[in-house]
Formats: sequence, C-alpha cells, structure tokens
Amino acid sequence: MLRFVCILGLFSATFAAAVPKPCCAKHQLTADLQQITGSYTNGTPSTVETLMKIQYDYDTLMIKLELSDGTTIIQDFNQTKQYTTSGKSCRTDDIQSDIQLQPPCVPSNAVYRGRNTIGDDVTYDVDTWFVAGTPWGNITVSVMAHDCTPVMQGTSSNANNVVSQTTIFYHNVQFTTLAATTFQVPQPCP
Ligand SMILES: *[C@@H]1O[C@H](CO)[C@@H](O)[C@H](O)[C@H]1NC(C)=O
Ligand SMILES: *[C@@H]1O[C@H](CO)[C@@H](O)[C@H](O)[C@H]1NC(C)=O
Repeated sequence: MLRFVCILGLFSATFAAAVPKPCCAKHQLTADLQQITGSYTNGTPSTVETLMKIQYDYDTLMIKLELSDGTTIIQDFNQTKQYTTSGKSCRTDDIQSDIQLQPPCVPSNAVYRGRNTIGDDVTYDVDTWFVAGTPWGNITVSVMAHDCTPVMQGTSSNANNVVSQTTIFYHNVQFTTLAATTFQVPQPCP
C-alpha cells in the first residue's frame, strides 16, 4: 500500500513539473502570416485566405499589416486610429476603444494543452494553450517552448448567426528592432 502511494506521488510531481508558465515573447516582431477563415453565415459556407506581413511593436502600441493585395493597414493603439492605404488613397478610422493591442504573451488564464515537437532533423518543443471566452472567441495558441515564438493561433467563434474558425500560421518570425519610421502614416491621410 505504501509503495502504491509513493508511485502516485511520483507521478503527480512529474506532471506538475511538466506544466510551464504562460510565456511572453519579445515586444517587437515581424512575421509573414497566413490566415485562413472558414465560416457559416446563416448556413452559407465560405473560406477566405489572407497573406500578410505583420510588423508589431508593443512598446509603442503600433501594428503594420501589409496585405498581399497591396493594402497597408497601420494601427495606432495609443491614438486609437487606423490608417488604410491602397495605391494613392488613404483613409483614417477610429479603433474602438474597447479593442486593445494584445501583449506578446500567452494570457495568464490560459489552460495548458501539452507539449509537442516540430521538425525532425532539428526539433523544437512547442507548447499549446487554450483560452475560452475571449472577445474574439475561444483561442488555441501554440508557441515555441524556449522563447515563446508564435507558431499557430486558432480562433473559434459563434456569434450573430456566424460560426467561424480562423487559423493563423506564423512564418519567418523575427524578433527585430523596428525603426519608428516603420509606422509612419502617409500624409495627407484624411
Ligand atoms: C502615446 O502618445 C503620447 C502623446 O503623443 C505620448 O506621449 C506617449 O509616449 C505615447 N505612448 C506610447 C506607449 O507610445
Ligand atoms: C468555447 O469553449 C467552451 C469551453 O470549452 C465551449 O463550451 C464552447 O462551445 C466553445 N465555443 C466555441 C465557439 O468553440
């Protein structure tokens, strides 16, 4: 009986050690994103694939998205303004004040889903986390264990008769220092 208890204790200790803390990546990041959204709107299915380059700076609260169709979106979460340029046209919109730039972190309330590897010749550990009930829906995010580099993020939502699943793959991630000019808005931008 005593031995049985000891084995159980050993197991639970091993399990506790295997659960990492939610991590944070560096505050500046560039990446090529492949975003695929599948949705049902009142029963009608659709899929949309978007390729874009993201430049993200959490210190200055700026994001720049360069879409493959030539559209560029700069979001300034400090001034809560969004600037969309396409060709020679530029448009300014307000960002809703309840939308905030997300920190480069796995949220502290995320539930750990376990560790896997990617790669074969060279392998990296990847941790997966789940967060239910965010303003965007339920989020599943996978990050590299050693430095929190995002690998994949999935969002499922079901609201206003739209059921959707969005998956974002993070390619060519680099933690690089971004010049302030990166987020310069073309003038004029009415
Ligand atoms: C936000 O903008 C104000 C006014 O321009 C500036 O003083 C402040 O440093 C900015 N905050 C950040 C985080 O960039
Ligand atoms: C979100 O997660 C909760 C808890 O796991 C689940 O009950 C709910 O069905 C999920 N919603 C969607 C849209 O996936």
